[in-house]
Amino acid sequence: MSPAERHRVLNGVCHRLSVDALLLTEASDVRWACGFTGSSGWLYWSPWKACLLTDGRYTIQAGREVTDAEIRSEGGDLATQLSEAIGQSVERIAFAGDHVTVDVAARLSNMLPQTEWLPTARLLAPERAVKQDIEVEAITRALRITEHVFEEVLGLLRPGYTEREIAAEVIYRQLKRGAERMSFDPIVASGAHSALPHARPTGRVIERGDLVLLDFGCVVDGYASDMTRMVSIGRPEADVLAVYDIVRGALDRASESARAGMGANELDRTARSEIERAGYGEAFSHSLGHGVGLDIHEWPGVSYRNPEPLPDGAVITLEPGIYLEGRFGIRIEDMVRLRPGHNEVITRLSRDLFIV
Ligand code: GLY
Ligand code: MN
Repeated sequence: MSPAERHRVLNGVCHRLSVDALLLTEASDVRWACGFTGSSGWLYWSPWKACLLTDGRYTIQAGREVTDAEIRSEGGDLATQLSEAIGQSVERIAFAGDHVTVDVAARLSNMLPQTEWLPTARLLAPERAVKQDIEVEAITRALRITEHVFEEVLGLLRPGYTEREIAAEVIYRQLKRGAERMSFDPIVASGAHSALPHARPTGRVIERGDLVLLDFGCVVDGYASDMTRMVSIGRPEADVLAVYDIVRGALDRASESARAGMGANELDRTARSEIERAGYGEAFSHSLGHGVGLDIHEWPGVSYRNPEPLPDGAVITLEPGIYLEGRFGIRIEDMVRLRPGHNEVITRLSRDLFIV
């Protein structure tokens, strides 16, 4: 998005929320709005004045990255900096009510008591959900690295490795292939451990007959990838194959159905009903997916609780799973870009069970 387009979009957010200005405090919102990649910074945005507030660690970096906002890096308390930067009374300012702490919100009110502070959940979420081509390209590059590394790790996977050793390979190899960082701590979960949807890699040694769940992603130009695949160490048992087919069927159904405009809960239902019909409804213990972009988990949530229509241009995951405590868990996760009437599957790797 060009700076002019971004200005138009941010002015549109002010209009949508009926405020005079926005205070962006989440690093990913700040990055999206002005390009600043530092970990500490707020962006004050009004149609008349834009100001990035940060500290001396980021003076040089902000000067290089931010072209269309005044940069203030005196450091110290950001709320104090903000009141000095604004230097006039502003009637209504929206801020991220789902991010700013109670303490910071109180200080903002004390600093600028004439201003009406509007706590707003998902401040830029609707705008950020609609991905531009350049954003999808970054996500795609990140996902290609993830896929390559999955294939490399497949060549390593054999009995004797611990989950942590495999996670270390995932991290090292994604960085070596050009990732900036991980999207999240890689999940490598073997045997009965795979029944924990968000297992942390342990020192458990992978054994013959194990099923291994690998869920990882990386970040390129700020944008995240996310992928889950299953590997069987040796021939899978018949019950594993049967459950795998159900999860695979649920993913296929969701990926055939996903399109912009449908309710998020409607999409969740396409996959969930396959799993319920097979008798495993209770074992699919999370939502079908989530938006991905600068953050690994973004709006929209593809959940049975979310009736909102899915936006045209959103990139989401589809990740049905069945988790059987004490036995095994199976999840398969792809990324798709939603379009009116259809979707574009970004993940290229086969959805089959991998057997080594
Ligand atoms: N793939 C990890 C997650 O979506 O939570
Ligand atoms: Mn995910």
